[in-house]
Amino acid sequence: MISITIDRSQCKKDGMCAIVCPERIFVQREKLTIPEVMHEEDCIACGHCVAICPGDAICHSEVPSTGIRTIRVEEMPTTEQLIWLLKTRRSIRAFRDKPLARETIERIIDGARFAPSGHNSQSTEYLVVQDRAVLNQVSAMVVEYLRFETRRFTNPLFRTLALLANRELAESGLREIPKFKRVTHLFESGADPILYSAPVLLAFHARRTIGYADVNAQLALQNASLVAHSLGIGNFFAGWVVSPCRAPMARKWNLRIPSLIGIPPGNELHGALALGYPLPRFRNMIEREPPQIKWV
Ligand SMILES: Cc1cc2nc3c(=O)[nH]c(=O)nc-3n(C[C@H](O)[C@H](O)[C@H](O)COP(=O)(O)O)c2cc1C
Repeated sequence: MISITIDRSQCKKDGMCAIVCPERIFVQREKLTIPEVMHEEDCIACGHCVAICPGDAICHSEVPSTGIRTIRVEEMPTTEQLIWLLKTRRSIRAFRDKPLARETIERIIDGARFAPSGHNSQSTEYLVVQDRAVLNQVSAMVVEYLRFETRRFTNPLFRTLALLANRELAESGLREIPKFKRVTHLFESGADPILYSAPVLLAFHARRTIGYADVNAQLALQNASLVAHSLGIGNFFAGWVVSPCRAPMARKWNLRIPSLIGIPPGNELHGALALGYPLPRFRNMIEREPPQIKWV
């Protein structure tokens, strides 16, 4: 059970905890009074109250003091530095044959876990695949899945049924078939167009029953991608690895990759990041399309 107490001798009575708490656990009835703590059971343990309190007056059972560090403005990257990091990130698909140190992978995951999550569920779990034999099997299994999709979409009966069930989805599947054939052909000629022989696959998964688990995992993935980039580690979102998990009307295929890499049965795979030392490094930042913005 969550317990939250306010040290009355330390409280500055500024009411900041009441202002920032998303669950309105703190109620300041009058200005310059000590807030009351209400319905603690609804607390999502986001730590906002402890993070804002100027007197360090809040004792929260889910926010241990060992996990608190003062934020110093001078330690922040500048906006220019941050935007440069964002603009220079690129999907890297050629890797050196060199493993990543465990500490490097842990650092990347450490950044990932600070992504926002719905209701602060922190639902994302991480699975690190480094075993070359398993990585090769992942690529081979994805290609097997692409062959399966090509076969079933070229079957007139399946195609008709799929178009009747969901025209838009079926048409987008059909448009992919030439690409599936190209990727399959590349794999058969000895290349790895799925993981590009990356030495690490970092999988983002979560318990099936958690709301927004997919969004949470993808936000964590993007954090991880940026930390990796800042460390000089190349990476790309390995969407092919996740696509069999999402395939409609293919229950067997939804489970095969998660079970191959060791995702627990109650969990779903939401994202996969291929990681490794880049070969070679990109020299230039390339401008993007201007954003489509509507101001209301
Ligand atoms: C949801 C998603 C799935 C992706 N899947 C793959 C993939 O399976 N293989 C791949 O090489 N790149 C994949 N990418 C990377 C995109 O191709 C890439 O982000 C895009 O071309 C823009 O290039 P950039 O990442 O270098 O900016 C994926 C990206 C996203 C967001």
